[in-house]
Amino acid sequence: MAKPFRMLKERMSLEQREQAAVRAKELIEEMQRPEFLLSQPLKLPCGATLPNRFAKAAMTEQMADPTTNAPNEAIVRLYERWAASGAGMLLTGNVMIDRVCMENARNVAVEDERDLELLRRWADAAQSKGAHLWMQISHAGRQSPKKVTKQPVAPSAVPFQRGSLKPIFGTARALAEPEIHNLIGAFARTAAIARKAGFKGVQLHGAHGYLISEFLSPIVNQRNDSWGGTPEKRMRFLIEAVRATRNAVGADFPIGVKLNSADFQRGGFSEEESMNVVRALEAESVDLLEISGGNYENVAMMGPDSTRKREAYFLEYAEKVRGVTKMPLMLTGGFRTASAMADAVSSGAVDVVGIARPLCTEPDLCARILDGTADAAREFDIRTGVKLFDDMLQSFWHNHQMKRMSRGLDPNLSASKWMVLAKGMAEQVIANPFARGREYPQPAEV
Ligand SMILES: Cc1cc2nc3c(=O)[nH]c(=O)nc-3n(C[C@H](O)[C@H](O)[C@H](O)COP(=O)(O)O)c2cc1C
Repeated sequence: MAKPFRMLKERMSLEQREQAAVRAKELIEEMQRPEFLLSQPLKLPCGATLPNRFAKAAMTEQMADPTTNAPNEAIVRLYERWAASGAGMLLTGNVMIDRVCMENARNVAVEDERDLELLRRWADAAQSKGAHLWMQISHAGRQSPKKVTKQPVAPSAVPFQRGSLKPIFGTARALAEPEIHNLIGAFARTAAIARKAGFKGVQLHGAHGYLISEFLSPIVNQRNDSWGGTPEKRMRFLIEAVRATRNAVGADFPIGVKLNSADFQRGGFSEEESMNVVRALEAESVDLLEISGGNYENVAMMGPDSTRKREAYFLEYAEKVRGVTKMPLMLTGGFRTASAMADAVSSGAVDVVGIARPLCTEPDLCARILDGTADAAREFDIRTGVKLFDDMLQSFWHNHQMKRMSRGLDPNLSASKWMVLAKGMAEQVIANPFARGREYPQPAEV
């Protein structure tokens, strides 16, 4: 025992020593409680500090005006509600880098500064209680529906394999080289505008089968030029987009990336390839890597199909990633209990816990976990038993709750899944023969 401690111990009475031991035990127990672990701030490599270990994960709001794609009062009200969620960081849903290849006709799109004031209102509302708002910036690639895009663009002209998606999405055309450079520039421009509007970070959406993850995918990227053909060339689009974004936002502004652990498709982006991407992102000084998985053909991001409960379904992968990088990691997908969230953080595998669907049904869940009044999210069974419907319902039902909050209402947990499904299909899925999608000017040579 070190000398000062020995001297202190000798001067303490037995009673004092017992009291000190009890206090020490209490302190250790306190520090292991989820409330304590999850309330710790996190300093990012760029120098910014997130207030705690909770992040509201990105969920496409689909509330913007379909003609202007500007943010509006509905989005501002929704984020006013989430400002009090308790999550230290709030990620927006997909904000598109242009108005052509959007994931939904009602996405917010940021190509230039025309909506700067509205973006400021959005940032102010979300950040009014101390949370940081990050903009998730995205390009939908071939996952832009016919209603939105006359002809989507992708690394290569590869149609969907999942038959049920074919009526909704047109076959993409391959991007020409100058267009690829333009899109990289567009990611950087949108990020710079986010910073100017007061957002406290950006995340490049590199997961779920959108453009960046299409470049990473050996199935969708069949190019043989300097953007495809080998794993290094397939990751070039992502790395150049991160680099351009860093140049645009400066060294002190957080940049995150959402990356698939894998696409879970035979011949698709594999776990092994993803590890190399992780190393490359660390070399680019990415501040927060969010781990997810899947795409429209296999919606693995929403969890396993089985009824068996499995929390944090990408945790094993996160542990492997931790083995190859020191970059701060955010894990999203399936977290429901405070104990599982705290374990993931205390094990060191994960730094930030991403929560999506539970914040649509219980918008103050993180705050209640942090003050010790909740220890788990409520469970909902909104399955119909038909796989295609169930995949769609995950999005429609939670989007329905977001829309209620955007009107100043509480979520309605007894909303009928059939009603929500019918409405969602009418709005989103059934192709409108009169819809006139947008398109890019045709490149000189493809
Ligand atoms: C309604 C809805 C919309 C979503 N939109 C996005 C999105 O815009 N960008 C994104 O990266 N992930 C999106 N996701 C996926 C979530 O961010 C998250 O990865 C997934 O829901 C799993 O996390 P959870 O189990 O906490 O819900 C969406 C999920 C839902 C339910």
